[in-house]
Amino acid sequence: MSISKESELLGMQKASNAVAYTLKQMINYAQPGMTTKELDNYGAKILSDFGAKSAPYLTYGFPGWNCISVNNEFCHGIPSEKRILQEGDLINVDVSAELNGFWSDNGASFVLGKDINQHQKLVDASKEILRKAISNIKGGIKISDIGHIMETEAKKRGFKVIKNLGGHGIGRSLHEQPDEIMNYKNRFDQRRFKKNSVVAIETFISTTSTYATELNDGWTMVGNKGGYMAQHEHTIIVTDGEPIILTKANKILN
Ligand code: CO
Ligand code: CO
Repeated sequence: MSISKESELLGMQKASNAVAYTLKQMINYAQPGMTTKELDNYGAKILSDFGAKSAPYLTYGFPGWNCISVNNEFCHGIPSEKRILQEGDLINVDVSAELNGFWSDNGASFVLGKDINQHQKLVDASKEILRKAISNIKGGIKISDIGHIMETEAKKRGFKVIKNLGGHGIGRSLHEQPDEIMNYKNRFDQRRFKKNSVVAIETFISTTSTYATELNDGWTMVGNKGGYMAQHEHTIIVTDGEPIILTKANKILN
């Protein structure tokens, strides 16, 4: 969406605060021994208290409130009573929701407890790349130039990017134009970021794979060549200068 009046800015700020606070609380709450279903229920309660509803449930009928993906699962992981979190797991929580007709989206990967499986370097790379991508976005900048920065920064750190996942416009629904805000330079993509538009910018940084493929459960995405992936996502408003980070309350880049 494009922000054209104060009420739209306020609506987006409220929805964004709800998803940002929920993400932050879920990351703090995660503990070894907990199931991903318990973690999801905890997040669902917080969203409900804000009056917000799960975006993937509303939009796609996702079987849970939040996507929780562990280790070899890249994204869209289904909360489960059978999935028990363990020390050193690489966990991705993605929280998106609708509140009073406004939609916002954010996500983060993190290592649970001690980094016994050496995932922190990947997580830090993803954070740094999101920070760099966002700081380079303003009205008139080519979408593919941001993709170029993301891929270049990933390579510099010895990582790859996933080529079939991307960020997206957001605001009056979960996925809007511009869609396919990719983590690489698509030289055929002539689109530019527009001032006042709301977009969800997300990284998809991986150790081995360059494509994500869906498991038989119809939701969970894993890598075509296995390995691990880290994602960090903020919903932002494009301006003439530094973007306004609507989901900054999640503190994922701190
Ligand atoms: Co998301
Ligand atoms: Co998103």
